[in-house]
Amino acid sequence: MANLFTRSVTGSEKGRQRRGPLIRKTGDRLPYWGEVRWKDWPVYAPPNSNDTNWWYVNTEQNNTPVVFRPYRNGAPHLINRTWLRDACICDKCVDPSSGQKRFATMDIPEQLPIEGVFVGDDGSLSIQWKDDFLTGDTHTSRYPRRIWVPTTPWDRGRLEKLKPHYHYDDFMAGNTGYREAMWTLQQYGIIFLHHVPNAETTVEELAGKLGSLQETFYGRTWDVRSKPNAENVAYTNSYLGLHQDLLYMDNVPRLQILHCLENTCVGGESLFADSRCITKEMEQLYPDFYDVLRRYPLTYHYFRNGHNFTRSWPVIQDNGDMRWSPPFQLPAQPINMSDMGEALYAQWLKAVRKMKPLFEDEYKIYETKMQPGECVIFDNRRILHGRREFDVNSGSRWLKGTYVDNDSYSKRILSIDGFTLRPGWYQPNTSQFEERYPEPKREGTKP
Ligand SMILES: [Fe+2]
Ligand SMILES: [Zn+2]
Repeated sequence: MANLFTRSVTGSEKGRQRRGPLIRKTGDRLPYWGEVRWKDWPVYAPPNSNDTNWWYVNTEQNNTPVVFRPYRNGAPHLINRTWLRDACICDKCVDPSSGQKRFATMDIPEQLPIEGVFVGDDGSLSIQWKDDFLTGDTHTSRYPRRIWVPTTPWDRGRLEKLKPHYHYDDFMAGNTGYREAMWTLQQYGIIFLHHVPNAETTVEELAGKLGSLQETFYGRTWDVRSKPNAENVAYTNSYLGLHQDLLYMDNVPRLQILHCLENTCVGGESLFADSRCITKEMEQLYPDFYDVLRRYPLTYHYFRNGHNFTRSWPVIQDNGDMRWSPPFQLPAQPINMSDMGEALYAQWLKAVRKMKPLFEDEYKIYETKMQPGECVIFDNRRILHGRREFDVNSGSRWLKGTYVDNDSYSKRILSIDGFTLRPGWYQPNTSQFEERYPEPKREGTKP
C-alpha cells in the first residue's frame, strides 16, 4: 500500500508540509507479482468435472506462491505458501476439541517443499507438504473450494443474466429455494422475491428468515410514500441518487428489505449498483486515489426531531464496499479542520472527482420498476440504491421497508451448511485483472 500521507499525519513531523505531488506513479505497489512466472508452472485442475479451478504450482522451488484462477482466463490470485501451510485445519494443526491452533505463523519455516498437488472434483485443493516442520512426515492439507470463491462484483449486464429472482413460498419454506437465494444474497448482495403476499406485515416475516429485524428511529418497519414536508428525502418524489441508508449510525443495518405494495405512478424506478464494481474499477484505474478514499473519513450526520447521530467512515472500506450517502454528509467536513487539512481535503476531493464518472456509468446501474407483490432484499453495506423521480399525481406509490442487523444475518449465514461468512474474504489483488469482469464458466456455482 502506497503510504502517501504518512509524512503528513504522524505527529512526529509537525513542520509545514510541502505541497509536493502527493499522487505518484504506481510502479512500486506490492506485491510485485510481475516477477512470478506462474504461467510456465504445472497446472492442476479437477480431473473429472467442469469445475473452474486452475492451480499453478511450482513444485521445484520451495517458496514461490501458489497461483489460483477461479476460471481459465480469470484474474490470478497469488497465495503465499506460508499462508497456505498456516491455513491447514487438520487435527494435527488445530486441536479438534478446543479449535485452537497448535503452532504460530512464525514457527513455519521459509522453505516449504511441496511433494504433491491434487484438485478434487468438488473443487477442493490438497497439498502434500514434504518433510513437514510440524509432523516430520508428508503432511496433507485439504482446503475446501469455498475458501477460494471470491464474491462476484456485478454490473447491470451480469445481474440481468443472473436473474436473482425467487418465489416467496420457496424462500419461506426454507428448503433449496431458500438456500439458493441466501447464497445469491451472500455472493451478489441482492435478490428479488415475487408472489409476495400483499400485507403490511410481510417484511417483518421476511426479516425473521434473514436474521433479526433491526428497529431504528424510523420504527420497526417504515413506509416510503410521497408526503408533504418530508423530514427525509426518501419520502419525497424527487430523484434520489445512489446511496446507502443510515450511515450516520454506528451499527449500519446490514440488509434492507423493500416490499412493493402499490406502484401505479409514472416513474419511480428503483436503481441498484454494486459498490464493489465501482471500487474495483477505481482500484484498477487510479490505485493511489483509491488509497486516499480508503484512508480518509467522510462524516455523516442526522439531526432532526431529537434523533441526533454522527459517524465517520472512509468512502472505501477494506473489503471494497463503499460508504456513500451524500444527502447525509455533514456540511462542514472535519477533514479540512486540522493543520494539514486543506492539503488532505484537496487530495480527497480529487479522488472523489475521479470516482464520480465511475458512478454514473449506465452499464453498472440495474434499473427496475418494482411491481406490487415484489420484494427486494439487498446488502445495505455493499449495494447502493436510488430511485428515479415520479409523478405523485399519476397514481399511488407505497413501499414497505425494514432492516436486518449485521450480527444476526452473519449468524444465520453461518448456520447454513457449507456457507462461509464472507465468500470474498480472500481479496484478490484486483489491479492484476487481465480482463475487466470475466464471466465464470458456471454461473451461480453453489458451495
Ligand atoms: Fe435509502
Ligand atoms: Zn495440518
